[in-house]
Amino acid sequence: MEDYIVSGGYPLCGRLSVYGAKNAVLPVLAGSILGSDAVFLKNCPRLSDVSYTLEILRRLGCRVAAEGGEVMINPASASSWRLDAGPAGEMRSSVNFLGALVGRYGRAELPMPGGCRLGSRPIDLHVRAFREMGVNVEVSGGVIRAEGRPRGTDVRLDFPSVGATENVILAAVMSKGITTLSNAAREPEIADLCGFLTAMGAKIRGAGTGTIRVEGVPSLGGCEYEIMPDRIVAGTYMCAAAAAGGEIEIENVIRPHVEAVADVLVRCGADIAFADDRALVRVRHPLRSAGVVRTEVYPGFPTDCQSQLMAVMACGREKGVIVENIFENRFRIVPELRRMGAEIRVNGPKAEVRGGALRGAELFAGDLRGGAALVIAALGARGESRIHGVDYIARGYQDLAGELSSVGARISVGK
Ligand code: EPZ
Repeated sequence: MEDYIVSGGYPLCGRLSVYGAKNAVLPVLAGSILGSDAVFLKNCPRLSDVSYTLEILRRLGCRVAAEGGEVMINPASASSWRLDAGPAGEMRSSVNFLGALVGRYGRAELPMPGGCRLGSRPIDLHVRAFREMGVNVEVSGGVIRAEGRPRGTDVRLDFPSVGATENVILAAVMSKGITTLSNAAREPEIADLCGFLTAMGAKIRGAGTGTIRVEGVPSLGGCEYEIMPDRIVAGTYMCAAAAAGGEIEIENVIRPHVEAVADVLVRCGADIAFADDRALVRVRHPLRSAGVVRTEVYPGFPTDCQSQLMAVMACGREKGVIVENIFENRFRIVPELRRMGAEIRVNGPKAEVRGGALRGAELFAGDLRGGAALVIAALGARGESRIHGVDYIARGYQDLAGELSSVGARISVGK
């Protein structure tokens, strides 16, 4: 595994461009097996999770070609409804194949999903929704087995789970009848998945709202589709500028997608101006307190930017409070930030962060967004930090070290 060696204390200056969204492209890739013809995706990010998913599609019998940010998947020759372990066990998003395989074959068998260790990450909401759609789902020995053609019905999620929403839609688009999903997730990635499926010929209404209506169609074709920009990458860049200071311009930003993060950073003293699809972020230190920030489902503050914000708070001089309402174990970077000199008190879902003059240290990433957060903290610290476990970061960022170095960060990659 490679390490990042970061020299802190250098402000950022320059332009960064946001690439395609990991959490949009992964369900879209799973959905590509629902069609009878090739799909052509643009703005597909080059991430290890995408590579894993393309390998899963190949093992299912699809023809796959990838060149830069363009990907072609032809599912015509796909024949298997069974995912072996390997890549599927690596990622949480492999659970989207449950919906896609059931949607195509009326059957599915796949390992319980892997992914970052953010808590138990059950799939009870997925299982219950599928059973309401007439699909029998059993989980035993770490394997999910599903059997039965989904039929249109009313489904209500107890919690607006992103993955469960995506799976119901993937199972419903070629089912018989109409499926109305209430208490659906409203994250923009859901609307992107629905845009893709609609381009294949699906009949979906209400994407992006809490009630999504899917009218099943007998078959889906191929399509061309461009993946939305990654709002979490944009938020990560904003937090990096807040921690390091300086001025950066971020391109390919959809303002409503990043508003919640921008609002908090403005409270900390950042100047953030939007023009067309760009955000100009200017930060003069010292940062003010962010106050109390609660992670919420969209459009609230995204849990996927929570660790990055904690790193910003640790670089400040005042106290801030984070309440993590989405995952039960998403404070894994606390011991790392303490090693840099931050004072952090954790009490259940609440973390009180008192920043200080952070010192560079030897740090260990334990998950994707936590790894990005350690880079952000290292940018704002005095001295040098060595960050281990950067393979986690590669799951969700094309080249975070190179991206930030292009705007003045001092980051090298070493063994
Ligand atoms: C998606 O995960 C994202 N991953 C996550 O991003 C993101 O943090 C999350 O949505 C919330 O926005 C992908 O899209 C690949 P959930 P998902 O189902 O679908 C509980 C990243 O860093 N829950 O909305 O797994 C669950 O345990 C990743 O890019 C159940 O209890 O999220 C969690 O506490 C991390 N039962 C909460 O709901 C279920 O059946 C939210 O989970 C399903 C979920």
